[in-house]
Amino acid sequence: MADSLGATPQYESIADEFLSHARDGFYNAHYDRPACLRLLAQVRGLDVLDAACGPGLYAEELVVRGARVIGFDSSPRMVDLSRQRVPAGDFRVHDLTEPLGWLPDESMDRVLFALALEYVDDRVAMLREFHRVLRPDGALVLSRLHPTGDWLRHGGGYFDVRVVEETYSGGWKLRYWMAPLERTCEELHQAGFLIERLVEPVPEPAVQALDPEDYQLLRREPRGFLAIKAIPDPRRR
Ligand SMILES: C[S@@+](CC[C@H](N)C(=O)[O-])C[C@H]1O[C@@H](n2cnc3c(N)ncnc32)[C@H](O)[C@@H]1O
Repeated sequence: MADSLGATPQYESIADEFLSHARDGFYNAHYDRPACLRLLAQVRGLDVLDAACGPGLYAEELVVRGARVIGFDSSPRMVDLSRQRVPAGDFRVHDLTEPLGWLPDESMDRVLFALALEYVDDRVAMLREFHRVLRPDGALVLSRLHPTGDWLRHGGGYFDVRVVEETYSGGWKLRYWMAPLERTCEELHQAGFLIERLVEPVPEPAVQALDPEDYQLLRREPRGFLAIKAIPDPRRR
């Protein structure tokens, strides 16, 4: 399999299904979103860039919490869904393989980048763009598939950086980058970020009854996601 993904929007044909799945689904609603929203913390009055915003589920919550949200996604359907869901947000079609030329330097307080790092070939160039648009006291919050979970599912060398294909329960076939944890830390470093926190979330006991099986699995094993808060390294501006 070729080790590049290019710019084909893989989610375009499954955008509506993704929305149905992620709106209340255990992994997104009760595991990833709580973890990233906790890392984002207080966003009232802040400018937040929702990168690879999907159908606007994060943007909706951020606007409720008082943020001004600009979002983008490479899938036009995802952008339509975001616009419908969050009229107060400002959404556009944009692919992460391109620079964020429409955003000035140091114009954002937070960049949220949830569950899309895996779909980008040149992650350092993209992270540098996030760094450029962040204010010096800003922060990037990202989540990605847990690399140990990827390795348990796909096998092979844990340390290899490679493109894999996976078929999910809805029948979605997606290609994405597998990379060890160190690679993500290194890419953040190369882009000028300092990691402030790294979280391996587990679901809260309060959501156990919603899906006892996934709850037990994710409390026990690193098969879901992890989340990182990184800040522009003040020594390297
Ligand atoms: C798993 S979904 C996550 C959506 C949203 N961040 C969330 O957590 O609800 C991945 C999203 O990344 C978007 N995406 C993938 N590759 C992209 C790229 N190169 N540029 C912009 N968006 C991309 C997809 O279209 C999809 O909406």
